[in-house]
Amino acid sequence: MYDFWETMILGNMIYQGNPMLRHLELTRKEPLKKEHFDRWMELWSETVTEFFSGKNADEAVLRAQNIATLMQYKTEEINRSYL
Ligand code: HEM
Repeated sequence: MYDFWETMILGNMIYQGNPMLRHLELTRKEPLKKEHFDRWMELWSETVTEFFSGKNADEAVLRAQNIATLMQYKTEEINRSYL
Protein backbone atom coordinates (compact mmCIF):
# COMPACT_ATOMS: atom_id res chain seq x y z
CA MET A 1 0.00 0.00 0.00
CA TYR A 2 2.89 2.37 0.72
CA ASP A 3 4.28 1.74 -2.76
CA PHE A 4 0.84 2.21 -4.29
CA TRP A 5 0.34 5.64 -2.74
CA GLU A 6 3.89 6.73 -3.44
CA THR A 7 3.21 5.90 -7.09
CA MET A 8 -0.19 7.59 -7.13
CA ILE A 9 0.65 10.78 -5.26
CA LEU A 10 4.37 11.32 -5.68
CA GLY A 11 4.68 9.80 -9.14
CA ASN A 12 7.57 7.46 -8.22
CA MET A 13 6.56 4.49 -10.31
CA ILE A 14 7.47 1.79 -7.80
CA TYR A 15 4.14 -0.05 -7.43
CA GLN A 16 3.58 -2.77 -9.99
CA GLY A 17 0.59 -4.64 -8.56
CA ASN A 18 -3.05 -4.73 -9.51
CA PRO A 19 -5.14 -3.63 -6.52
CA MET A 20 -8.45 -4.02 -8.33
CA LEU A 21 -7.75 -7.68 -9.07
CA ARG A 22 -6.61 -8.25 -5.46
CA HIS A 23 -9.91 -6.96 -4.11
CA LEU A 24 -11.98 -8.89 -6.64
CA GLU A 25 -10.25 -12.02 -5.35
CA LEU A 26 -10.97 -10.94 -1.77
CA THR A 27 -14.68 -10.41 -2.38
CA ARG A 28 -14.96 -13.96 -3.70
CA LYS A 29 -13.75 -15.20 -0.31
CA GLU A 30 -15.60 -12.69 1.86
CA PRO A 31 -17.99 -10.22 0.18
CA LEU A 32 -16.84 -6.61 0.37
CA LYS A 33 -19.96 -4.48 0.78
CA LYS A 34 -20.96 -0.83 0.80
CA GLU A 35 -20.62 -0.55 4.60
CA HIS A 36 -17.05 -1.86 4.39
CA PHE A 37 -16.11 0.68 1.74
CA ASP A 38 -17.80 3.49 3.71
CA ARG A 39 -15.84 2.53 6.82
CA TRP A 40 -12.62 2.15 4.82
CA MET A 41 -13.13 5.63 3.35
CA GLU A 42 -13.86 7.09 6.80
CA LEU A 43 -10.64 5.62 8.23
CA TRP A 44 -8.61 6.70 5.20
CA SER A 45 -9.86 10.31 5.33
CA GLU A 46 -9.31 10.53 9.09
CA THR A 47 -5.80 9.12 8.82
CA VAL A 48 -4.73 11.28 5.89
CA THR A 49 -6.04 14.48 7.46
CA GLU A 50 -4.52 13.59 10.83
CA PHE A 51 -1.02 13.44 9.35
CA PHE A 52 -1.10 15.60 6.22
CA SER A 53 -2.67 18.69 4.71
CA GLY A 54 -2.48 20.46 1.38
CA LYS A 55 -2.77 19.50 -2.26
CA ASN A 56 -1.37 15.96 -2.01
CA ALA A 57 -3.50 15.15 1.01
CA ASP A 58 -6.64 16.34 -0.81
CA GLU A 59 -5.59 14.32 -3.83
CA ALA A 60 -5.07 11.17 -1.72
CA VAL A 61 -8.61 11.41 -0.34
CA LEU A 62 -10.18 12.22 -3.72
CA ARG A 63 -8.39 9.46 -5.60
CA ALA A 64 -9.19 6.92 -2.90
CA GLN A 65 -12.85 7.90 -3.14
CA ASN A 66 -12.86 7.44 -6.91
CA ILE A 67 -11.14 4.06 -6.70
CA ALA A 68 -13.39 2.93 -3.83
CA THR A 69 -16.50 3.83 -5.85
CA LEU A 70 -15.28 1.84 -8.84
CA MET A 71 -14.12 -1.05 -6.65
CA GLN A 72 -17.45 -1.19 -4.87
CA TYR A 73 -19.29 -1.26 -8.19
CA LYS A 74 -17.14 -4.14 -9.44
CA THR A 75 -17.28 -6.13 -6.20
CA GLU A 76 -21.09 -5.77 -6.13
CA GLU A 77 -21.26 -7.37 -9.57
CA ILE A 78 -19.21 -10.31 -8.29
CA ASN A 79 -21.14 -10.55 -5.01
CA ARG A 80 -24.40 -10.71 -6.99
CA SER A 81 -23.14 -13.50 -9.19
CA TYR A 82 -22.26 -15.51 -6.06
CA LEU A 83 -25.77 -15.26 -4.53
C1 HEM B 1 -13.82 -2.61 1.76
C2 HEM B 1 -12.66 -1.93 1.63
C3 HEM B 1 -11.31 -2.61 1.59
C4 HEM B 1 -10.87 -3.72 2.24
C5 HEM B 1 -11.64 -4.59 3.25
C6 HEM B 1 -9.50 -3.95 1.82
C7 HEM B 1 -8.70 -4.99 2.24
C8 HEM B 1 -7.46 -5.28 1.74
C9 HEM B 1 -6.68 -6.47 2.04
C10 HEM B 1 -7.13 -7.60 2.97
C11 HEM B 1 -5.54 -6.40 1.36
C12 HEM B 1 -4.42 -7.44 1.31
C13 HEM B 1 -4.71 -8.34 0.11
C14 HEM B 1 -3.68 -9.41 -0.15
O1 HEM B 1 -2.51 -9.20 0.20
O2 HEM B 1 -4.04 -10.44 -0.72
C15 HEM B 1 -5.54 -5.15 0.63
C16 HEM B 1 -4.52 -4.71 -0.18
C17 HEM B 1 -4.49 -3.50 -0.82
N1 HEM B 1 -5.50 -2.57 -0.83
FE1 HEM B 1 -7.31 -2.77 0.01
N2 HEM B 1 -9.14 -2.97 0.93
C18 HEM B 1 -10.21 -2.13 0.76
C19 HEM B 1 -10.26 -1.02 -0.06
C20 HEM B 1 -9.20 -0.50 -0.76
C21 HEM B 1 -9.24 0.70 -1.58
C22 HEM B 1 -10.49 1.57 -1.77
C23 HEM B 1 -7.99 0.88 -2.08
C24 HEM B 1 -7.46 1.96 -3.00
C25 HEM B 1 -7.83 3.21 -2.92
C26 HEM B 1 -7.16 -0.21 -1.61
C27 HEM B 1 -5.83 -0.39 -1.90
C28 HEM B 1 -5.10 -1.51 -1.60
C29 HEM B 1 -3.76 -1.75 -2.11
C30 HEM B 1 -2.94 -0.83 -3.01
C31 HEM B 1 -3.37 -3.01 -1.61
C32 HEM B 1 -2.06 -3.74 -1.88
C33 HEM B 1 -2.28 -4.64 -3.09
C34 HEM B 1 -1.00 -5.36 -3.50
O3 HEM B 1 -0.43 -6.06 -2.65
O4 HEM B 1 -0.59 -5.21 -4.66
N3 HEM B 1 -7.93 -1.02 -0.80
N4 HEM B 1 -6.73 -4.50 0.86
